[in-house]
Amino acid sequence: MLKVDTINQYYGGSHILRNVSFEARLGEVTVVLGRNGVGKTTLLKSLMGVVPVKTGSIHLDGRDITRCTPYERVREGVGYVPQGREIFGRLSVEENLRMGLAYKPGRTPIPTELFELFPVLRQMIGRRGGDLSGGQQQQLAIARALAAGPKLLILDEPTEGIQPSIIKDIGRVIRMLAARKTMAIVLVEQYYDFAAELADQYLVMERGEIVQRGRGADMDADGVRRRMSI
Ligand SMILES: Nc1ncnc2c1ncn2[C@@H]1O[C@H](COP(=O)(O)OP(=O)(O)OP(=O)(O)O)[C@@H](O)[C@H]1O
Ligand SMILES: [Mg+2]
Repeated sequence: MLKVDTINQYYGGSHILRNVSFEARLGEVTVVLGRNGVGKTTLLKSLMGVVPVKTGSIHLDGRDITRCTPYERVREGVGYVPQGREIFGRLSVEENLRMGLAYKPGRTPIPTELFELFPVLRQMIGRRGGDLSGGQQQQLAIARALAAGPKLLILDEPTEGIQPSIIKDIGRVIRMLAARKTMAIVLVEQYYDFAAELADQYLVMERGEIVQRGRGADMDADGVRRRMSI
């Protein structure tokens, strides 16, 4: 579904992503692990087109999206849940969800299945985004990304600053979405247990490079936890 080939990325003079290549398959969760500042968010922003890549290519479902704008990528089927959620605090839950449908014609209804995945959003539909708890905001951000029916869902540290019960709910939803085999999921995570539970494939980044990769089931045996805690 997603094919990333030898991408390089710079902020000014500093080389942030170095020859990053990987594929993310339909129905699979690809987890990207790595400590603070190794370039995980930059990688996701490159997939989304928020920062243009210098060299290399990105293909989605066989189409070259390397030079597409973020808006065009949403239309091509990329759903993005940014680090820190970035929901609209002054807009209602409903309006936030409509933002996820912004490129669709006129009054496309909000898919009711979003409320099946996250029942709390139905209860909170008229509340302002800013009045939700951190966990509820995260659920809203995921629902917003799902609203347009993405082929690729990318999530940046969805467990950051969130209470354990909601982390469990989010994990269940991610697993359910993967099981449908309608999308590929790329998840950036620093919380090892959550990552290990969800990963079909894992990638470990250090200083802008992928330094280790394998199947999710082998993460413990491969010593990934140790690498994360050094
Ligand atoms: N807009 C920017 N301009 C310049 N340097 C940046 C910018 N954004 C990030 N960086 C630098 O790029 C490197 C990678 O940052 P990035 O946010 O991708 O890391 P990360 O792995 O997501 O970290 P974290 O785990 O803290 O979220 C860091 O050294 C960071 O300081
Ligand atoms: Mg980050």
